[in-house]
Amino acid sequence: MSRFVKVTLVGSTACAMALLISNVASLSQEKAIATVQIDDNHLRVTEWRFAPGAATGYHRHDHDYVVVPVRDGELKILGPKGEVSVAKLEQGKSRFRNAGVEHDVINNGPGEMVFIEIELKDTVIGRE
Ligand code: NI
Repeated sequence: MSRFVKVTLVGSTACAMALLISNVASLSQEKAIATVQIDDNHLRVTEWRFAPGAATGYHRHDHDYVVVPVRDGELKILGPKGEVSVAKLEQGKSRFRNAGVEHDVINNGPGEMVFIEIELKDTVIGRE
């Protein structure tokens, strides 16, 4: 076996290792489960269910929205510049956010987290 072949084999092994490591990294970031309950011209209502550590994935909100926590929980929020904040959510205590928010949302607590998200399709950015 020539030296060239040997180097190629070592290179492809390193490639396979890198692929494996990146797959393990993406597997460890479990996705939250989104179940759309209502989707019409005016509203989209989605149940979000997060195992501990699960994430929505990075997304942008095109509509104003209300979050209604079904359980108490703690969410870690990653912003567009990598900024991290923690939000404690209380069962039944609604929160409103304007359109334009961009983030990844991760269940930072030890138990399952569930909230209902209500997107208001008739509002636009900047409208009061
Ligand atoms: Ni969001």
